[in-house]
Amino acid sequence: MPLVTSKEMFKKAYEGGYAIGAFNVNNMEIIQGITEAAKEVNAPLILQVSAGARKYAKHVYLMKLIEAAIEDTGLPICVHLDHGEDFEICKACIDGGFTSVMIDGSKYPFEENIRLTKQVVDYAHEKGVVVEGELGRLAGVEDDVKVAEHEAIYTDPDQVEEFVKRTGVDSLAIAIGTSHGAYKFKGEPKLRFDILEEIQRRLPGFPIVLHGASSVIPEFVDMINKYGGNMPGAKGVPEDMLRKAASMAVCKINIDSDLRLAMTATIRKHFAEHPGDFDPRLYLGPARTAIKELVKHKLVNVLGCAGKA
Ligand code: G3H
Ligand code: 13P
Ligand code: ZN
Repeated sequence: MPLVTSKEMFKKAYEGGYAIGAFNVNNMEIIQGITEAAKEVNAPLILQVSAGARKYAKHVYLMKLIEAAIEDTGLPICVHLDHGEDFEICKACIDGGFTSVMIDGSKYPFEENIRLTKQVVDYAHEKGVVVEGELGRLAGVEDDVKVAEHEAIYTDPDQVEEFVKRTGVDSLAIAIGTSHGAYKFKGEPKLRFDILEEIQRRLPGFPIVLHGASSVIPEFVDMINKYGGNMPGAKGVPEDMLRKAASMAVCKINIDSDLRLAMTATIRKHFAEHPGDFDPRLYLGPARTAIKELVKHKLVNVLGCAGKA
């Protein structure tokens, strides 16, 4: 099975009322944990790579590791650029074998977002690569960009038809109250399902993407706090809200923070219990297993895409 785009995955997900998991990858253990989980439950996968991940691990290493995962699992896997900020990085990823890219023009005014997104779509489509655009702005931290809560902007349903029509994007990321990172809500978690519903009505059959969708699983936050960490007030999107979004037009759900928390909690616990260990396999191995179990849980119980590969 070669790398695939997300086109067919999204079509089936939309019709089936489930979502594909888009998991951020940064190293071998993360890739193996995610892909081994997907193999066990026969789920299609999107592995996404941020600019920061490309800088940390290098494009070629991540690409080869993902190719190895495809050979090892035989699964349909799409490799996607997460939050591409300009045409150049999208082009580099398209030329370097990615099957999907996100051009995130959400920080620009509407017309500039359209211009930039269309430029990427024109280049990508010629090469058989699909494109995710974004309208609206999430709060939280991505790479070096920190968007304060008061700067976050819900997606305006009045803009979505024109944006999709004029850019030709294959999917659209929207802002309905989620945010990046481990501190998503100060009070009670609240998502604007009314906005999602209206967007779905305006764009029937069109795949929507939800960023900032980690649940910030309390078990891992508690473990981090117990073993010397300090994450008071960490809070994520409740799983029942994600299930509801997946049953609607949301076809791609982005998860990174939960992987980071699972890995960090497991490594902290390991060192608390085995302070003398210094062989990286002894702590990275359990971290990889924790990621695998977490991803299996997401695929089966939250996203509903188990058995759909
Ligand atoms: O949305 C951002 C993702 O969590 C990627 O994070 O840019 O630190 O790799 P990163
Ligand atoms: P989380 O920080 O909620 O995992 O969001 C990840 C994301 O949206 C990557 O694009
Ligand atoms: Zn994101």
